Amino acid sequence: LPYGIVGEGLKEVTRRVPEDEPPPLPENAKLKSIGKPVSRLDGVEKVTGKARYTFDVQLPGMLWGRWVTAPLPHARIKSIDTSEAERYPGVRAIHILERLLSSAQLRDPKAEQGNRYPTVRYAGQPIAAVAAHTPRAAEAAAKLIKVEYEPIPHVCQLEEAMKENAPRVFPGPTEQPATAGGGGAPPGLPQRGNVRGPDSKPLGTPGARGDVGKGLRESDVVVEAEYRTQVQTHVPMEPHGLVADWRDEVLTLYASTQFVNSVREEAAEHFDLPKSKVRVISDFTGGGFGAKYGIGNYGLMAIHLSRKAQAPVRMILDRRDEHVSGGNRPNSIQRLKLGAKKDGTLVALQLHSYGTGGIAGGAGVGFCHATLYNCPNVLVEQYDVFTNAGPCAAFRAPGQVQGIFGLEQSMDELAEKIGMDPLALRAKIDISGTDDCLARAHERRVGAERIGWSKRRPAGADKGPIKRGIGFAQSQWAYLVQPSTMCEVRVSGDGSVEAFSSTQDIGTGTRTILAQVVAEEFGLRPEEIGAHIGDSRYPMGPASGGSRVTSSLTPAARNAAYRCARDLASRLAPLLKANADEIVFADGKVMVKGKAGSAMPFREAVKKAGFAEISQQAGRRDDYEGYVMSTPDFALSRHGIGGVQFAEVAVDTETGIVKVERVVAVHDCGRPINPKLTESQIYGGVTQGVSYALYEERHLDAASGHQLNANVDQYKIVGSREVPKIEVIVLEQLGAQSSTDARGVAEPANVATAAAVANAFYNATGKRIRTLPMTPANVL
Ligand code: MOS
Repeated sequence: LPYGIVGEGLKEVTRRVPEDEPPPLPENAKLKSIGKPVSRLDGVEKVTGKARYTFDVQLPGMLWGRWVTAPLPHARIKSIDTSEAERYPGVRAIHILERLLSSAQLRDPKAEQGNRYPTVRYAGQPIAAVAAHTPRAAEAAAKLIKVEYEPIPHVCQLEEAMKENAPRVFPGPTEQPATAGGGGAPPGLPQRGNVRGPDSKPLGTPGARGDVGKGLRESDVVVEAEYRTQVQTHVPMEPHGLVADWRDEVLTLYASTQFVNSVREEAAEHFDLPKSKVRVISDFTGGGFGAKYGIGNYGLMAIHLSRKAQAPVRMILDRRDEHVSGGNRPNSIQRLKLGAKKDGTLVALQLHSYGTGGIAGGAGVGFCHATLYNCPNVLVEQYDVFTNAGPCAAFRAPGQVQGIFGLEQSMDELAEKIGMDPLALRAKIDISGTDDCLARAHERRVGAERIGWSKRRPAGADKGPIKRGIGFAQSQWAYLVQPSTMCEVRVSGDGSVEAFSSTQDIGTGTRTILAQVVAEEFGLRPEEIGAHIGDSRYPMGPASGGSRVTSSLTPAARNAAYRCARDLASRLAPLLKANADEIVFADGKVMVKGKAGSAMPFREAVKKAGFAEISQQAGRRDDYEGYVMSTPDFALSRHGIGGVQFAEVAVDTETGIVKVERVVAVHDCGRPINPKLTESQIYGGVTQGVSYALYEERHLDAASGHQLNANVDQYKIVGSREVPKIEVIVLEQLGAQSSTDARGVAEPANVATAAAVANAFYNATGKRIRTLPMTPANVL
């Protein structure tokens, strides 16, 4: 395996090839629906406010939930008195949390024996919740809950927490730490004080091979640097939330989630219910970047409250809680060493990354380099550091965004030292012998031409205070699919065609691509297909994470649609006096191949056929030889997904203000099912990347452990005036060995941006920027 990706505890892949696999698709020009820039079918609903997000769910008799949080960063709870709150008018139920999800758990529960309540380990940690008839009553009652605390020394900053005599966030060793919203580090990692690791197999990628010490000794040039990145919090438009309705035998949950099925599974597990008794609905999810899996502590409490009150209960995080408890991208201290020969051959790569997990871990603090470049001697180790702060979570290409920020700058530094063009150096060291390598080479050529790379000037060429420059970085991410993905396609006697998948839409346009793929098989327009998603009762769809929806859902949908269309053809054949294999669906009609005048409108033909309903369920093709590891949730391809980005910046060296003026993003995701949505994903990725590079940063007060900017006024996100001109180029060189040829694109679009901006900063000023974000304080 060229990438050497073999994960621990992951099974060898054995796969079954379905017999009636659809034939390969022709090039986009010959297709009517797939590959077309169709606007979101639910776009009007979204922009007019008709779309029902979990935030909007209103049920008869619904109660408002409000949680109570701890004001101290580390404390034992001595007592909780709810009596006054219970008497408050309108209060229907109170629940005290028994166990905190998304927190590392103690390996030895006896270590805290005698404690009735979970220990408070960060300021803002939820303790209890109230359900009442109005939001005001819930809030007022929540304030009446009296909690007595016994403070414990705390530590909430990364470097402090790494010290040997630092206060311990967890008194003993911990089990595999959870992240806010799923995932987690591999089990069994050693722990010293607050430091847990090394994890040298991030995402199943071994971070060690060869002898890195020997490699460094044999290098002609060594580049050594320390990079620092900040904590980035999740700021989706719609905060985390859940509405629980447990009045009947079935527990119904409305969830703002990236994975309907994960919500169902966690709820069934925690409340000891069969999965069939839990139904999860998510019509629309207002954004999610890795932290919206499972039920969360808010959901856990909503379910308890609903059971107690025998009424639906709504628990939605407010903006403050979203920042504090919603999950965050860990910060990092990365110590990186690269060694190379004079001709650019990479000989050694060594990286030690430390990042704050808060009360969790396993969200990636800087890694994956081993998969990007050819290098015989590699040592990549990452460590989670526990702190008294909100839990970390996966965040759009976890670890990779931090890691690439450092790695791609050091690569440029190396290129400069040996007098090589940065692009030529990448060409020299790209992983050879894979289609990804060829893709990156072509992307670099196309992007370099667009940005005007040949006119790039030496570093710090501008004489005045405003200095301009351009920079480059490339990215690599895993190509994931969800093997368990299923889809159902149904044709009813009245001629309507519908598709069903439990998958959800986090804003990317899932319904639209589903409809496009099905429409193609029936010769219909996408808007004529009923695309039904966001309900756990539908066949299992993919998680909206790991850039896997399009790569998993579209082949399953096409397979189901293909089979259903074949079934339909056999039923229409007698009507058209032809054989089933001569029936063609095109332009809204059914016709006999090569027989002029045989065409009949689709709906009319189906009605005449006189059946009630036909349907087919199918999965995605499962014989892809490129898989190298597989779990029920995801299979990892030997191939990757990635892209390259070029940035143009202007730095005001008097005020320290950095402006990203232009980004050229060249990406390849196989066949774009919908180029408009593909481009939108990349615009979003670059925008989020610029935001991370220049502005976003959680500020914690070391003394109190409180986040000082837990709002959207002081937690600065890129604004519309600061978004650069983004030029997206989508290439279609790569195949995907699936019936739709689609790979993912979401995460790599966010990986290279900060590094490209940093390299442009150097080209502008002649100074390296080792610390993010590039605020005036860090730049001057
Ligand atoms: Mo994400 S970090 O792909 O949910």
